[in-house]
Amino acid sequence: MISAFTFRVPKALFLLLIPVNLILIFVTVLYMTGRMHESKEFISSSIKTLNDKLDLDSWKKVSGGQEGNDLSTLDKYGYVIKPQEVKFKFINPKNKQGDPKEILKHNTEEYEKLMKMRINEPKNADINSMRPPAEGDIDKYQRENATIIALVRNSEIANIGRSIKRFEKRFNSKFRYPYTFINDQPFTEKFKEKMSSLSQAEMHFVEIPSSLWEKPEIIDSEKQKKLMDELASKNIAYAKMESYHNMCRFYSGTFYKLPELQKFKYYWRIEPDVDFYTDINYDIFKYMRQTKKVYGFTVNLYDIAETIPTLWPETLNFLNMGDNYKYVNRNGAFQWLLDDLQNPAKNAEAGGYSCCHFWSNFEIGDLDFFRGEAYDSWFNYLDSTGKFYYERWGDAPVHSVGLALFADKKDIHWFRDIGYVHDPYMNCPNRESASCDAGKFTNFDSLLDQNCMTNWIDYSMDDPNAIY
Ligand SMILES: *[C@@H]1O[C@H](CO)[C@@H](O)[C@H](O)[C@H]1NC(C)=O
Repeated sequence: MISAFTFRVPKALFLLLIPVNLILIFVTVLYMTGRMHESKEFISSSIKTLNDKLDLDSWKKVSGGQEGNDLSTLDKYGYVIKPQEVKFKFINPKNKQGDPKEILKHNTEEYEKLMKMRINEPKNADINSMRPPAEGDIDKYQRENATIIALVRNSEIANIGRSIKRFEKRFNSKFRYPYTFINDQPFTEKFKEKMSSLSQAEMHFVEIPSSLWEKPEIIDSEKQKKLMDELASKNIAYAKMESYHNMCRFYSGTFYKLPELQKFKYYWRIEPDVDFYTDINYDIFKYMRQTKKVYGFTVNLYDIAETIPTLWPETLNFLNMGDNYKYVNRNGAFQWLLDDLQNPAKNAEAGGYSCCHFWSNFEIGDLDFFRGEAYDSWFNYLDSTGKFYYERWGDAPVHSVGLALFADKKDIHWFRDIGYVHDPYMNCPNRESASCDAGKFTNFDSLLDQNCMTNWIDYSMDDPNAIY
């Protein structure tokens, strides 16, 4: 043991310290009087080299645009996050080479190879603590704070009925999470009776207040009509259908404001005519909570660039206003948002956004993320531009851009184990119980290029084999 009394600087070292100190004082004086101009440059360039060598995560966090040279940090990390100076850049983290065709071929092969690997349930949680209760105990089961949501019309009674039947069989008959059906019109008795006959779970039938659904007053209808006529002439579906725009805006930014959803933390969204290819034998919501996930998805897909030409540029405008830079999560999925290798034309049309998104007809999310200040103030800005009506921004790219910017990418989970299909796209894992072809993304070869999951795998997952 060394006490303060026994610890002594050896005499030789002490003698050495005197000249070193003298030199330091001399250098400091010269430096401050500016006479050592050349040495000054030498010192600062040494510091720079040292910085480059100290390529540690912690340094990256401080310096990813806070200090240091913007250009080099932008090139190195793909982002600069400073007040009124938020920038992103695609830096090709996997150093992929080739033209878009070659990249697509490579990405498709990588996807199929991964999907052909045999998997089971996630390994990163205690799945056995999330098993369904015994049949007699279901009334006493401690559910998570969660609901199944479906935005649906009375006329879709048969289509949503099919989804519920399948969903019950694979998952919800074992757990009985409550349903929240949502409509801009009152639900008919017939609809309610039919749904109630399909599940023993509690059901809520909610009519959306018009303030959360209807086109806001700021929208100039003349301008809207002119722009949507133009978009429709490019064969963009639903451009002229106002209720479609209402729906996109609702799911982008007002669904989490529904009074009936305030009492919930998690939601699982389902849609008419979807199907599930695998049995789900653990409580998905318990998995979300135990692993602190904010969002779960099954399919990664390209959007139609013509519907979102300025979603990304407007987002950058927002991030560069006031102190909005503070909302950006430094561990966001930026590179996934920015890839321009597989589909450069879409990236160019959408002003730098790859158009790759989580296909939101399946989504499991933490409502508190959406209600949080970052997402909600960004949505309010997007809404103020009117472009849910002047363009045709969908809720899927809006959710995706928001999540990639404001959430940590490790909190976004690909439910690779859940076989899911919403025609014409699917997620089909290689699992014992799966009733689909492992690795198949679509039945139409011409649509294979719409898959961008490999970008998620390559840029946003540390190790795809760590979870499954
Ligand atoms: C459920 O979650 C919401 C949102 O986080 C919260 O306000 C509410 O108190 C929670 N309810 C329970 C019973 O924990």
